Amino acid sequence: MELPIRPRRNRRSAAIRGLVRQTRLSTEQLIYPMFVHDDVKDHPLESLPGVTRWSPDGLLREAERAHKLGIGAVVLFPKIPDRSKNPDADEALNPEGLVPNCVRALKRALPELCVITDVALDPYNSDGHDGLVRNGQVVNDDTVAVLCRQALVHAAAGADIVAPSDMMDGRVGEIRNALEAADHDQVGILSYSAKYASAFYGPFRGALDSAPRDGDKKTYQMDPANSREALVELALDEAEGADMVMVKPAGPYLDVVAAVRAATRLPVAAYQVSGEYLMLKAAAKTGWLDERATVLESLLGIARAGADMILTYYAPVAAQWLHEKT
Ligand code: PBG
Repeated sequence: MELPIRPRRNRRSAAIRGLVRQTRLSTEQLIYPMFVHDDVKDHPLESLPGVTRWSPDGLLREAERAHKLGIGAVVLFPKIPDRSKNPDADEALNPEGLVPNCVRALKRALPELCVITDVALDPYNSDGHDGLVRNGQVVNDDTVAVLCRQALVHAAAGADIVAPSDMMDGRVGEIRNALEAADHDQVGILSYSAKYASAFYGPFRGALDSAPRDGDKKTYQMDPANSREALVELALDEAEGADMVMVKPAGPYLDVVAAVRAATRLPVAAYQVSGEYLMLKAAAKTGWLDERATVLESLLGIARAGADMILTYYAPVAAQWLHEKT
């Protein structure tokens, strides 16, 4: 039978495929999550091969390398010694703490690199939860008050964007108000709008020793079974003044990325989390998967689903590959 329409014509050559390609990855859209600790040595993470917990100096060197590779932004995750943790997460508010010091150093050395900070209490909280625990419950409004102060500390240190990853109700609006009142009207909010209670965060919590001491995070992070609920969270964060929104994890939640993309005019980020990274890394290590091809395909899939920005531990490696490709 004659086929009047032959879609294969558009796939005939590399040149034609290039013409009709609908999604392109670029280094500019990559956000590099970086671990940092207050130690003079850099510490390669056994539980996340290829990822390092940096000393403050190591962080500067690595951020400079990432910047030169064309990566748009870094986001910082601190590991704090146990002795600095308490139930009030006081260290989160220390203007001379690890994160504010690193933000200042990064903005001084690399003013053009966008520096994003994580707003949540889990690295500082002896209970290991993103919010304050009172009588066995993660309390919402008292936590939000502390998150606002944490965001102000980050903004005062020079953070370009603060990223609340805690999933408390109402935090985006309160943080926005706090920033405006303190003359930080240029500091953006990247909200983790749809952050799921995911088992794929396991290696991250190992890297920071930040797993909850008791229970899990299911009373604040979303149920992996729900997608319409992501749109409820999205609508609230938009109304409260988020500048950008995020879906996390990315790969197992591409339907959510696409639904959020369709429902908002704001930029959408997706976070390829530690467990997603580790699956690719492990399969590459055994030789079961071609690392370069599968990693770039995983990132392309996230972008195709609708993410403008992608947080990935592969950021510098992927950036290198993207340069080699062209
Ligand atoms: C906590 C936070 C987590 C991640 C980023 N921020 C872990 C959690 O919610 O327990 C996970 C990132 C990853 O797994 O790569 N505020």
